[in-house]
Amino acid sequence: MTRTIYVNGCYQPYNNALLHVEDRATLFADAVYEVVEVKAGKLVDQDAHLERLERSLSEIKLVTDFSIKTIPFIIRESIRRNRVKNGYVYIQVSRGSGQRDFIFPSANETPATLIIFARSKNPLKLDEKSKKGIKVITHPDLRWKRPDIKTTGLLASVLARQTAIEQGAEEAWLYNEDKFITEGAASNAWIVTKQNELITHPANQSILKGITREGVIRLTKELDLTYIERPFTIEEANDAKEAFITAATNLVMPVTQIDEKSVYDGKSGPISLKLREIFHEFAQISY
Ligand code: PDD
Repeated sequence: MTRTIYVNGCYQPYNNALLHVEDRATLFADAVYEVVEVKAGKLVDQDAHLERLERSLSEIKLVTDFSIKTIPFIIRESIRRNRVKNGYVYIQVSRGSGQRDFIFPSANETPATLIIFARSKNPLKLDEKSKKGIKVITHPDLRWKRPDIKTTGLLASVLARQTAIEQGAEEAWLYNEDKFITEGAASNAWIVTKQNELITHPANQSILKGITREGVIRLTKELDLTYIERPFTIEEANDAKEAFITAATNLVMPVTQIDEKSVYDGKSGPISLKLREIFHEFAQISY
């Protein structure tokens, strides 16, 4: 089966799915994106992801000549053509291609570029990983000051994640100048205190307001857990009873080591695992 990728109105065979060299995504990272989980052929929290895409577009003042309402049809078709049962869909909108210029091109002459692809991922591997948990390292948050906008300008996150991998970890927890953890390179960061309080950074301009994070906040109400939205320090993280990350590509993933310090004796914590287990029961599932 040849994979196909949607690029500006056409489903192209994988090897021919090309962007123009002067696409503003490549020249300026002048583009925003979303990643939506596909589970058993269905989409998890698609509406929330598309709402966030609209917000990102509006924050970077990108006006598209197509309606966001058409995207679910393309997503469905991409899943069908690529026979994706479990995995994810990637959606990217850039401010089109044209002569390299810092000034916005006119939306009439330079239509936005829309790319959508669907990829399979083995969910069993992730579940296995969640039983063991993952190691994270702490790393300075070197990103621009608007990580609440989901742009493709991800170099600082790429470098932080790579440093984590080189140190035998899977994610980097980014900390600001005051040594507060903001979030992961591509996930939100959580701790559970010894008093069983779930703590994560407020969804202000310093972090991306994760859709999985929102789902977990709903779950804390269902499970009668205390949820507190406030920044936490590296020291607090080292002292936490449990820790985990959330992202559409990981769901709730227990953290069992932060730098050199074990969390929950190096095992996946029960609260993190419970949240992972019931996450989909409370998510919005669409066809
Ligand atoms: N990243 N914070 C950052 C910086 C992220 O890049 C992501 C997701 C999240 C979690 O958001 P959500 O729960 O909506 O996936 C938080 C995606 C998965 C990625 O870039 O691949």
